[in-house]
Amino acid sequence: MTAQPETEPFRLDPDGADDRHTLNARLRAHGGAAPVALPGGLTGYAVTRHADLKDFLAHPDVAKDACHFAALAEGRIPEGWPLLTFATVPGMTTADGADHRRLRGLATKAFTPRRVEELRPRVAELTTSLLDGLAEAAATDADGYGTGVADLRRHFALPLPMGVLCGLMGIDAEHTDRLHTLSNRIVNTNTTPESAVAANREMVAILAQLAAIRAAAPGDDLISALITAREEDGSRLSEQELIGTMLLLIVAGHETTLNLITNAVRALCAHRDQLALLQAGKVGWEAAVEETMRWDAPVSFFPFRYPTRDLEVGGTLIPKGAPVLAGYTAAGRDETAHGPDAHVFDVTRDQSARHLSFGHGAHYCIGAPLARLEATTALRALFTRHPDLDLAIPEPELPAHPSFVGNSRQVLPVRLTP
Ligand code: HEM
Repeated sequence: MTAQPETEPFRLDPDGADDRHTLNARLRAHGGAAPVALPGGLTGYAVTRHADLKDFLAHPDVAKDACHFAALAEGRIPEGWPLLTFATVPGMTTADGADHRRLRGLATKAFTPRRVEELRPRVAELTTSLLDGLAEAAATDADGYGTGVADLRRHFALPLPMGVLCGLMGIDAEHTDRLHTLSNRIVNTNTTPESAVAANREMVAILAQLAAIRAAAPGDDLISALITAREEDGSRLSEQELIGTMLLLIVAGHETTLNLITNAVRALCAHRDQLALLQAGKVGWEAAVEETMRWDAPVSFFPFRYPTRDLEVGGTLIPKGAPVLAGYTAAGRDETAHGPDAHVFDVTRDQSARHLSFGHGAHYCIGAPLARLEATTALRALFTRHPDLDLAIPEPELPAHPSFVGNSRQVLPVRLTP
């Protein structure tokens, strides 16, 4: 039975009164783990301080398998609970120990630094053609913001990681828009139960169909490689795990990189002196990517981990089986780890106090080298072609994305310059 926390749970709703960083400061000030209101009236905890989060992510008494989720075991999760798909998807993000190593091992082969390096020409080519499309959208006022303005999220930051990922997985372009829409509904935290269930069902059906096509005619792609690994030894990857891994790669691999690119563009437009350093070659674009990862981390609250016993985190007791969120965006601005100017965006910062925004420990992001390659290529190319690019809508008026999982905005209209 899960004990109730003494404090009223914090609301993580991105449409709430606080902006994300103000809320995060309140969560960090609260202590090691702050009680938070989850959909469906459930209470969870958020770990938001850098040192506490680092310890927690590598703690031996913390699990990711939802069999440790007390509310689920006790039948207290309503059907269609928005986060249920993500909490129970059969794949590496919900597995522990040997199971986790088996599932992760199959997919990591596709993301070694060497394999990622081989993708560099493809990333560069796609970046160039998407920049052409962005310019075309601005010239024709395709998004209705006025001539010269286009939504960078829609025409550039989203299709770049999605295109690279689908290419890697051998998924045809015709499916990419739909897969993005469904993936979005799966990670949205204020969606209706019907919408979450329907999105999950449709996503699984599309992926099962793609897997069947690849099984019949294998190619040189990641899905075929996962299927081959399964067939070499029937016990290695079940059908459900194959679909779960595909779903995970799509959800984890594009929403996050999309947020990184858009958050970096917002940061650089607001800090033109630093943009000038990058454009003059005085600081590498990699530094802008790392500083954005720390200052405005793409993943706000990652669901879920469960202590396998009552566990103290930074002075707060988390009951056994409670769902715990990893507060990456909050940890990135923790002054104890990053100094009194943690709230300042500074591409010249000494990055030795490494951020945790790609995770830490056994579940560290397998896509980090790919995300870094994509974001660096995208920013360099964008601000070289459009040196004076600026936001067309003031930052405070950009609507937040309706999910506390991702740290993002729904649109990013930018004014292009020739
Ligand atoms: C795990 C962030 C890009 C695939 C993670 C975790 C974080 C993260 C924080 C750890 C989650 C946790 O357990 O707490 C990011 C960010 C990205 C990014 C910020 C972009 C800027 C990618 C890409 C891919 C990917 C491009 C694949 C194409 C994964 C997978 C896991 C993961 C499969 C689960 C690893 C495991 O559980 O062992 N990512 N990610 N990510 N990421 Fe990423």
